[in-house]
Amino acid sequence: QNTITVGLLGLGTVGSGVIEILRDHQEQIQHKTGCAVTIKSALVSDLSKPRELSGSTTTLTERYEDITRDPDIDVIVEVMGGIDHTLTILLEAIEHGKHVVTANKDLIAEHGAELFEACQKHQCDLYYEASVAGGIPIIRSIMDGLASDRITKMMGIVNGTTNYIMTKMAQDGVDFDSVLKEAQELGFAESDPTADVDGLDAARKMTILSILGFSMPFELKDVEVKGIRNISLDDIRYAEELGYRIKLIGIAENDHAGVSVSVEPSLLPVSHPLSSVNDEFNAVYVYGDAVGETMFYGPGAGKLPTATAVVSDLIAVLKNIRLGTTGTAYVQPQFPHQLKAKSE
Ligand code: NDP
Ligand code: HSE
Repeated sequence: QNTITVGLLGLGTVGSGVIEILRDHQEQIQHKTGCAVTIKSALVSDLSKPRELSGSTTTLTERYEDITRDPDIDVIVEVMGGIDHTLTILLEAIEHGKHVVTANKDLIAEHGAELFEACQKHQCDLYYEASVAGGIPIIRSIMDGLASDRITKMMGIVNGTTNYIMTKMAQDGVDFDSVLKEAQELGFAESDPTADVDGLDAARKMTILSILGFSMPFELKDVEVKGIRNISLDDIRYAEELGYRIKLIGIAENDHAGVSVSVEPSLLPVSHPLSSVNDEFNAVYVYGDAVGETMFYGPGAGKLPTATAVVSDLIAVLKNIRLGTTGTAYVQPQFPHQLKAKSE
């Protein structure tokens, strides 16, 4: 197969980044994979919205069936967000034999198992690198790079919006509401930014990391979550005076007593490396029995960093299609020990 045809679900911040990268890096992608990629159609919720699609032959539609049932489409790239409706659409697409790339952590954290099962049944690929830490290839690193190790702990900043808010509050003394608005305009925040602010987005990402890193069926409901809503400019100023910085930190630990995962605002000494992770950047420490301490750092949100992860997943699917190895990527861990969460 020399051309792969993609159906895009969503054409907002990340979707437009995907179009841009595929347009600007087409030659390099073709060189690496031996395939040309075309985006045949894109699902949007409002056809009348003005959009920039210069040089693109992509057709817009408001009917998802135009994409899920199109026999020409090989891969669905889901960058629209949402949970139940999106699950229905992706399950239908998988039933029609489409491979799936998604940036949707809400969906993977809550319905990953159903999607994996459907993919295994229909020999389809499911990749979701952009769902955790935007442009940082953390999922690939855990699943491939550290596959031989026993991961004991993962800790870090996994939400760009709240890190942007805390950074601007600390550096410029800007109030919470104005800087949240800025983060929304920059395309970092979720369509409902309460998921960012109240820690739910970070909790979903820590759930995904825990399932993959610890190979166990951890659930979102077992994460202890506290967001940043109640952190005031005074709190940040007093912390700075005492030599500390406040960051929203996710911690997942797997010891002999079980797994515990939390997300909460934490005081870090200014000398701690995570204290210097600013703006929308993310950083995750991963500790393994054999490797020791590793740290992954980079842009955790935004159009092009996120789209880079999405298009790299698409390249992984292209390679699998060409090698005839689809349906085997990042399968759901087999949960050999059925470990229990500490809170149970
Ligand atoms: P946007 O809100 O910018 O874009 C969403 C797109 O999906 C829009 O084009 C919208 O249509 C379309 N859409 C939404 N709901 C529907 C629906 N029910 N039917 C048809 N079309 C729909 O979101 P983002 O691009 O920021 O995020 C997309 C996904 O990527 C989310 O899952 C998000 O969590 C994830 N993500 C985002 C990151 C970021 O930095 N923004 C980083 C990592 C992951 P219309 O244009 O007509 O409004
Ligand atoms: N809203 C998310 C964040 C997008 O700010 O981290 C990236 O997942």
